[in-house]
Amino acid sequence: MIQITPLTDAIGARIEGIDLSQPVSEAVQQQIRDAFLEYAVLLFPAQQITHEQQLAAARIFGEQGQLHRPREFQPKAYDALPPGIMMISNIREDGVPIGSLPDGEMMFHHDMIHREIPDKATLLYAVEIPSVGGDTWFASGYAAYETLPDAWKTRLDGLRASHLYHYGSTKKGDDKGTPAFGACTHPVVRTNHETGRKSLYVNRLMTDSIEGLDPAESDEILQFLFDHSEQDQFVYKHQWTIGDLLVWDNRCSMHARTDFPGGERRLLYRTTVLDTQRPM
Ligand code: SIN
Repeated sequence: MIQITPLTDAIGARIEGIDLSQPVSEAVQQQIRDAFLEYAVLLFPAQQITHEQQLAAARIFGEQGQLHRPREFQPKAYDALPPGIMMISNIREDGVPIGSLPDGEMMFHHDMIHREIPDKATLLYAVEIPSVGGDTWFASGYAAYETLPDAWKTRLDGLRASHLYHYGSTKKGDDKGTPAFGACTHPVVRTNHETGRKSLYVNRLMTDSIEGLDPAESDEILQFLFDHSEQDQFVYKHQWTIGDLLVWDNRCSMHARTDFPGGERRLLYRTTVLDTQRPM
């Protein structure tokens, strides 16, 4: 039997009593999927898994994702990895990062929100972590939506926002390290088709504007929503330990990364899970 312990009132649960280097029974997989829908972020501590075992863990949640980034923008080190495994790392060889999203802070975002069908889930497995910082924070889009005053819920009804891939890490439009190749619009309030629950679906890093509104009104709404949705009461702040595997639901949570010393190594392996339908 696995043990499931909530991490905060709003989001996240710790799953113990499972070794993901071993086959997982269908009954336990179903328990994990149910917990994923309930808590949006799952922490599996103390894992020792290979790339293939991480890909198998991803398949518990759905169809394994592939890298969307065009080949010429992928780091060379990816040639040595199985398809579907991405490195998040600041480690450099000959001055060039061996992985993606290498340095420092990242503002809140939903993975792949700039695509027509953004990824359903992301899995991140910690191999090397700095002595301080580089934490990953997760905010519940459900809690953010459900605590909005009714007048705001009415105001947001039917609105769509435009999201850009053209981002840096702390400043929108700063294209350092992330060339632009995508933009998309999605509902500002998204219903998770598997739970029927509504969540806020805009973020400070990638959301550019609200469709059809003049820029001043669009900015006013987005600033309010960013500030509202990032409140501590909706957030789980994860401090990594080597061997942690985290999986999160990109449809109803967003995440951010805190700064960390550039001279210290950070390496995590990332896999994704495809979704089956457009956000609605
Ligand atoms: C990501 O946003 O996918 C990376 C998060 C992290 O490096 O902690």
